[in-house]
Amino acid sequence: GFRPKHILVTGGCGFIGANFVRYVARNHPDVHVTVLDKLTYAGNPENIAGLPQSQVELVVGDICDTALLNRLVPECDAIVHFAAESHNDNSIADPEPFIATNVEGTMRLLEAARAYDVRFHHISTDEVYGDLALDDPERFTERSPYRPSSPYSASKAASDHLVRAWVRTYGLRATISNCSNNYGPYQHVEKFIPRQITSILEGMRPKLYGTGANVRDWIHVDDHSSAVWEILTRGSIGETYLIGADGERSNIDVLRMILRLMGQPEDAFDWVCDRPGHDRRYAIDPTKLRTELGWRPAHTDFERGMQGVIDWYTNHRDWWEPAKVVTEARYRAQDQ
Ligand code: NAD
Ligand code: DAU
Repeated sequence: GFRPKHILVTGGCGFIGANFVRYVARNHPDVHVTVLDKLTYAGNPENIAGLPQSQVELVVGDICDTALLNRLVPECDAIVHFAAESHNDNSIADPEPFIATNVEGTMRLLEAARAYDVRFHHISTDEVYGDLALDDPERFTERSPYRPSSPYSASKAASDHLVRAWVRTYGLRATISNCSNNYGPYQHVEKFIPRQITSILEGMRPKLYGTGANVRDWIHVDDHSSAVWEILTRGSIGETYLIGADGERSNIDVLRMILRLMGQPEDAFDWVCDRPGHDRRYAIDPTKLRTELGWRPAHTDFERGMQGVIDWYTNHRDWWEPAKVVTEARYRAQDQ
């Protein structure tokens, strides 16, 4: 296997990137981590606060900044690329930053990785495969056709294609993972689960899009981190791995579970107008990751995981309150 000594983690102040940095600090204290993050509205240095300064260093900057990459990339032996504009609703309101960061930014990083011959792992999403019908017996596999629906998922699909082209044309040592919906601490309050939990804590009614029948395949963020580590260190170059933990649930079931765990009536929410082009269902078949790399999720009890997330938001009001005000104003302007 590959034993990285110094990894560059892009987007390491966002939700999944920060949880990955914490995972590495916890499990691999010998690995040095440089976080490169632009600190957009979604990035918060608090997300990686308290880690040993000798191990984790933050550089505030843009993945599109070639001069900066030419300084940082030669110092590391692997790049784990999380940085992205990540929210579908924002991409529908304004697609432009999604192309700049997700497409151009990925190209700039690939060029730096090529110039200095650095191992590259690309973090992507199951949304590149579009959606499934609610009653389709099939799930997404590594062979599913690309069929993205939103500007966000189209930009992630473009970035996946760039990575494959750099592998085939330039021989870049790269892998790709496409993961399903993550839940856990440090997730921005614009996303479904934190939005609903923090609304209830603020005495506001949760908002469900459309009929609530849409299905997402939930995985705890720590299980995403462990899978990425296995792929980075033991995955085959040029390969794609789907990451999922058999966590399919409809939005209305998830919302009712949150309301129940928080002591509210299960109908204490509002129906709001649907997301344009709303994907019906995502579902991952993780057979390749399980059989080739022997990976298994540790968080298999969703209700227990949800209780942990509710406790985390209950105990971290200072972390989310400033973002909550801004986010709800943005949603109000879109009638969501
Ligand atoms: P997030 O929005 O919480 O965090 C993104 C981070 O990237 C932020 O810290 C932000 O400041 C940083 N960033 C944005 N543009 C940048 C730029 N130009 N240069 C440097 N840094 C920049 O996102 P997330 O939910 O943690 O998602 C992380 C990655 O995982 C993304 O690539 C996303 O597509 C992918 N992913 C997310 C999920 C999910 O459920 N959230 C599932 C599968 C894959
Ligand atoms: O599948 C992986 C993807 O999961 C990632 O690539 C994205 O970065 C991540 O944001 C997430 O995308 P979704 O669009 O599935 O997540 P979101 O949290 O925005 O919404 C989850 C579901 O909940 C979706 O069907 C829309 C619905 N929803 C969302 C919000 C914010 C509501 O019903 N009400 C809401 O208030």
